[in-house]
Amino acid sequence: IHWILIHAHHLKQTSLPWLAPQAAVVPGAVYKKPPSLRMPSQSLFNKSVALLFSKRSTRTRVAAETAAVLLGGRALFLGREDIQLGVNESVRDSARVIGGMCEGIFARVGAHEEIEELARYSPVPVLNALSSLWHPTQILADLLTLHEHAHLFSGSPAPAPAAPVRKGGKGGKGDKVAMLAPLRPLTVAYVGDSANVLHDMLVAYPRLGHKLRVASPEHERYRAPRAVWDRVVQLGIEKDIFWTKDPREAVQGADLVVTDTWISMGQEGEKEQRLKDFQGYQVTEQLCREGGANPDWKFMHCLPRKEHEVDDEVFYGPRSLVFPEADNRKWTIMALFDLLFGKWSLLEHRTNM
Ligand code: CP
Ligand code: NVA
Repeated sequence: IHWILIHAHHLKQTSLPWLAPQAAVVPGAVYKKPPSLRMPSQSLFNKSVALLFSKRSTRTRVAAETAAVLLGGRALFLGREDIQLGVNESVRDSARVIGGMCEGIFARVGAHEEIEELARYSPVPVLNALSSLWHPTQILADLLTLHEHAHLFSGSPAPAPAAPVRKGGKGGKGDKVAMLAPLRPLTVAYVGDSANVLHDMLVAYPRLGHKLRVASPEHERYRAPRAVWDRVVQLGIEKDIFWTKDPREAVQGADLVVTDTWISMGQEGEKEQRLKDFQGYQVTEQLCREGGANPDWKFMHCLPRKEHEVDDEVFYGPRSLVFPEADNRKWTIMALFDLLFGKWSLLEHRTNM
């Protein structure tokens, strides 16, 4: 995880001057491209990535399409209505055909088994853009955001000085890339549904030294499914996860409070029941004050957001990291595309299926 975060941070630092030079170089100065300005990796030059999305998306799609451009390649958006998959063609055949023409598949699916089937039959790497069980690229963006805002969590170690990324030309100074700031161990509260975003938090955060406190309604459908909890147990991290039905208890001592929609895509039919079951789970100043959160607590949400999960005061207030979090979907997905789709194909030959 750290390796991908460092790579994403580096790609962001090297890409931003090309995108918003006036902001990224010297604020207020007339921009002149330094002779040693480094191009972001062009590992997708002449290459294509398939975005196989059977569900809606704003962030993941835009992040993927714009990241592919920066890497010198092209992303093909293949929505449910566009291709034969699911109507006239099987997952197996689609995986083989699409993988035969693209360097990678970024897939947003319904049931998680579908992505496993794609991966089984694709001749190129398949990356999960969200499934019923997991949303791994979201958690990478969340972690990058936390590292970038480490200074807001008192007690985080001071960042190392900027490091040169390569020797410069005649001047010899080189471009400086700020190191990814270290982050102290956090207490992270998640208040809401046990869905894909939380599931990746469960298997990632404790391994990085953070403690998780989760509040979800008592009914089994709002608790982690067997496949997710089995993975937690396999990793031996269950002792770092506290689970309750009381949101106040969950936010006790929290440095960070996180939530997600109460009604994930595909659950629209359960809306009425869910709105009832999640009464009292809205993230507010009052909830966190009464629950005893760290007075400096910060807030994150994968988006899209509804007001019943978190009120406007928190969502648009100074505690909220939600928009930098959304921006970071791009850099973390770019890092994955670079490593998995761009550079992987230099090392591995396609399987001859
Ligand atoms: N957070 C997230 O995955 O957003 P989208 O559904 O808009 O891609
Ligand atoms: N849990 C949500 C996440 C959206 C990004 C869903 O699956 O719809």
